[in-house]
Amino acid sequence: MNFMHRIVAKTQLSPNVTRLDVEAPRIAEIRQAGQFVIVRRGEGAERIPLTIADGDPATGTITLVIQAVGKSTRELVALEPEEAIMDIAGPLGHPTMLIDAGRALCIGGGVGTAVVHPIAQALHRRGVSVLSIIGGRSREWVIFEEELRRLGEVTVCTDDGSYGRHGFVTDAAKDALAASKIDVVYAVGPVPMMRAVVNLTRPLSVRTIVSLNPVMVDGTGMCGGCRVAVGGETKFACVDGPEFDGHLVDFDLLMDRLTTYREFEQQALAACEEAECRVGLGPTPAGAHPGSAPRVTIASLQ
Ligand code: NAD
Ligand code: FES
Repeated sequence: MNFMHRIVAKTQLSPNVTRLDVEAPRIAEIRQAGQFVIVRRGEGAERIPLTIADGDPATGTITLVIQAVGKSTRELVALEPEEAIMDIAGPLGHPTMLIDAGRALCIGGGVGTAVVHPIAQALHRRGVSVLSIIGGRSREWVIFEEELRRLGEVTVCTDDGSYGRHGFVTDAAKDALAASKIDVVYAVGPVPMMRAVVNLTRPLSVRTIVSLNPVMVDGTGMCGGCRVAVGGETKFACVDGPEFDGHLVDFDLLMDRLTTYREFEQQALAACEEAECRVGLGPTPAGAHPGSAPRVTIASLQ
């Protein structure tokens, strides 16, 4: 057995979101907020990009939060403590652009809350006042609440009102932006959520950083799978991001690209569940990057 990246703890955070604490001493030492890793469970497995939700240089571990949405992510979360992940490449991507003082609003939608956590941690360490607004479909989908409460004030929202405030995170964000001066907003979650946040902050001219989750393959800027349009320019989320100025992001294009891959992934998953899984061996969807798309799980940065 390969003990290179031993899983030291596993926690179920919500019905399809799992936390794995994994040995990766070098990454734990040097990672910064906003960075991610690319994980390969074993020989021949797909590469899955995952944000580093936390890390501890003293124990040499990093925290990965995985939304089980496809074959590969399901296989990853099936691993148990004492089992190992073969490859973890990183840290990758640019660290978060942090402010040094003032008040920051950190907005996390669903599993995106795990991506917001290291940003809030880093801001808190710099003495920035952190207000977090986090949301889930219902109570059981709310994650990282306790961790964020250690860093500042937290408002929890649920779509069905089963916990905290009834409604989307954007409802609470609108009130927070009206109630006090916010110097910067960090928003991570579903694309419609990030777009809605940007639409709130643009008229107020509040700087807004979003973390994008296009399909990633190599994580090195070579495959083109993660290309996004920002300020009218093509950028690669893996090497130019994953965080960008939300006011400059073309969210329509991002949605289109994610939808293309998601349809393909759903077909692959259905085929997988029906019979012997052949994910990675099918045809490339129209418009997708040849050679890369079939191997991709829509795992986003989570
Ligand atoms: P979800 O669909 O359950 O939504 C989570 C919360 O986001 C909701 O409770 C709500 O408060 C808010 N929200 C959703 N749609 C909204 C809208 N139209 N307007 C305003 N607010 C809205 O989220 P989930 O299932 O945990 O996450 C699913 C998506 O998030 C996936 O598509 C995944 O790829 C993406 N994601 C993105 C990142 C990233 O780095 N950007 C990271 C993780 C996940
Ligand atoms: Fe970014 Fe390939 S994952 S270019």
